[in-house]
Amino acid sequence: MIRKFKVYTIVLIIFMACSDNRTVANSSKEDAINVKVDSLIRIMTLKEKIGQMNQYNGFWDVTGPVPNGGDAEIKYEHLKNGLVGSMLSVRGAEAVRAVQKIVVEESRLGIPLIIGFDVIHGYKTLSPIPLAEAASWDLEAIETSAQVAAAEASAAGINWTFAPMVDISRDPRWGRVMEGAGEDPFLGSKIAKARVKGFQGEDLSAVNTIAACAKHFAAYGFSEAGKEYNTVDIGTSTLYNTVLPPFKAAVDADVKTLMNAFNELNGVPATANKFLLRDILKGKWGFNGFVISDWASIKEISLWGHTKDEKDAAKVAAIAGTDMDMESHIYVSQLEELVKEGIVKEDIIDDAVRRILTVKFELGLFDDPYKYCDEVREKEVVNNKSHHEAVLDVAKKSIVLLKNENQLLPLKKEGQKIALIGALASDKNSPLGSWRIASKDNTGVSVLEGMQNYKGNTLIYKKGADVSVGETHFVNELTINETDKSEFDEAVEAAKNADVVVMVLGEHGFQSGEARSRTEIDLPGVQQELLEEVYKVNKNIVLVLNNGRPLTINWADKHIPTIVEAWQLGTQSGNAIAQVLYGDYNPSGKLPMTFPRNVGQIPIYYNYKNTGRPVADKTNPNLVFWSHYSDVENTPLYPFGHGLSYTTFKYSNLKLNKTSFKMDEEVQVSVDVTNTGEFKGKEVVQLYIRDLVASTTRPVKELKGFELIEFEVGETKTIKFTLNKEILGFYDNEGNFIIESGDFVVFVGGSSYTSLHTSFVLN
Ligand code: NOJ
Repeated sequence: MIRKFKVYTIVLIIFMACSDNRTVANSSKEDAINVKVDSLIRIMTLKEKIGQMNQYNGFWDVTGPVPNGGDAEIKYEHLKNGLVGSMLSVRGAEAVRAVQKIVVEESRLGIPLIIGFDVIHGYKTLSPIPLAEAASWDLEAIETSAQVAAAEASAAGINWTFAPMVDISRDPRWGRVMEGAGEDPFLGSKIAKARVKGFQGEDLSAVNTIAACAKHFAAYGFSEAGKEYNTVDIGTSTLYNTVLPPFKAAVDADVKTLMNAFNELNGVPATANKFLLRDILKGKWGFNGFVISDWASIKEISLWGHTKDEKDAAKVAAIAGTDMDMESHIYVSQLEELVKEGIVKEDIIDDAVRRILTVKFELGLFDDPYKYCDEVREKEVVNNKSHHEAVLDVAKKSIVLLKNENQLLPLKKEGQKIALIGALASDKNSPLGSWRIASKDNTGVSVLEGMQNYKGNTLIYKKGADVSVGETHFVNELTINETDKSEFDEAVEAAKNADVVVMVLGEHGFQSGEARSRTEIDLPGVQQELLEEVYKVNKNIVLVLNNGRPLTINWADKHIPTIVEAWQLGTQSGNAIAQVLYGDYNPSGKLPMTFPRNVGQIPIYYNYKNTGRPVADKTNPNLVFWSHYSDVENTPLYPFGHGLSYTTFKYSNLKLNKTSFKMDEEVQVSVDVTNTGEFKGKEVVQLYIRDLVASTTRPVKELKGFELIEFEVGETKTIKFTLNKEILGFYDNEGNFIIESGDFVVFVGGSSYTSLHTSFVLN
């Protein structure tokens, strides 16, 4: 009976599609999909349409018995009745096939589910956390990393990832900085595009590509005081020039979906924010994909105090342009009545459903709902060797050498006694970060394992102290070891007799990520004390940091000669770190986020405004009336764009093709960069501008170009950049992109602190 009805439905859809004025054969792929979507919408009941706007979390062992009672039973009934358009967090070809089978075989129209998951930096084979990858400034490697994630996830039934997170943030207290690309909208936009391309590929219907989701729209990274889920209140200049550009870049790269943010923006929750969703995203930017709420964020509209109850929340969210409800269960319970009462127009529902069905068609789910559920492919693809090679490659590129004073690095490969200290050095779990999806706990390569591959030295490992105590799990608070120093002595003893001490310190993998804000961002627990104790007996310390955010490491910066920022680098972490320490990879990473001197400096970022009182009065240095703190200098510990190499680079000969330009002309910039050191190496050549006078003030520096270039020893290359209207303009307070005439300064160098500059006039 069910089968018969399905056949009838499909015939009907095809008939209706072909009887449309346009014929599928003559139209483009996009038109053909539009025709099919329209035809399908015409035969859907209001309930079925609302069902497409409903997403549920995985709810029972779908390969086991059918649930009996409770929430799971309701979800199962809804699946059967065509009241679910998507599920999240179901994974594995077998499990996805099982849920897909319910809707395909038992619901009236058999519309396939789109299966979403947080494939943030890999499925089973994990790349570095996104913030670390951003430090590579290597767009190709970042795209490849997203491709690997898509290949594995799509082989395990998933066809939609809730990534990339493109939230710009200037606040390292916020735990989710680990999931983004840092503080800069230009770098963030380039990376957003690379990630979208990596996930979605050239052809969304290919079996190894998945739909991407730019999140969290918008301004989640500006939560007050870096506290998770907090209020955001920012001005239009910051919104248009800093927050929105990476989203716009993702939309321009054809991202298929966006996710709302948990925060309110200037008094209106993002999930109910018509200005963001209808006016900007779907209006100005012409976004054709669909918007999903964040988890239960429709329900939370009322908790913010913006709506009085669930019905009201459903109304404002739908009218604002949130197309799919993730786990609030509110659209499915409220929208039908709202439409029947004429409060929400059916057009709004149709528009949302059209968007959702279009993505499903584009993914090829209507051709074969089980196309991502191939157990054989899953076995071949997930954890494939080539994926390990790819994530190792990007992991090495993500490491940033913050300091290397006495050239302790690279380590000599023979005849050395090396003491390796720190719980994180043998930790196989923390490098996986807090978004590990299908990757099993303790499957990362530890630094200890990575260093053991180098056999020419004597390696002694001592833990020194644990970072955390007790069980750790994604959903639970972590307890940091604040007291147990019982293994300090052993570590100090080992350090005493070593030629070099490598200390791996930093954050536990579950100390950053969602809901993991911190008010102090120094080395957690007793690790600082351990560092100082070891330093008393041996000053030859290489400090390797593992962390998901910038840390305040003033003492270390002052005393420790060599510091390596190694973040949380994913499955191949230890191999990547060892290869960098031993010089088999010359570090080339640059910071995507400023490292503050202390928490009081936050928010601190390189592209700040000049203020009306930028410098002290040189004639009277005792005057206090200028923009500064009285207890700490204005500069950060390490600026945005900073990162050293085992070699050195000299910048010279910065030139423009001329010094005065008309609006439509292109400014050609060139600079000579020479490898003046003793190693072959890569440098991220960075270009910044300053627009000196503008109707709304511009930052003292803005990144507007970068090139990652490799240099042989002694080699000089001329690096060229082109600046044009799109690059030199900015958004005014009404959101219009404008370009104004006047004086510009161009800076080029190896970090945002470069002083090499020249200037031009735009007429
Ligand atoms: C909440 C997070 O904010 C969002 O980024 C994620 O995609 C969803 N949970 C689903 O896990």
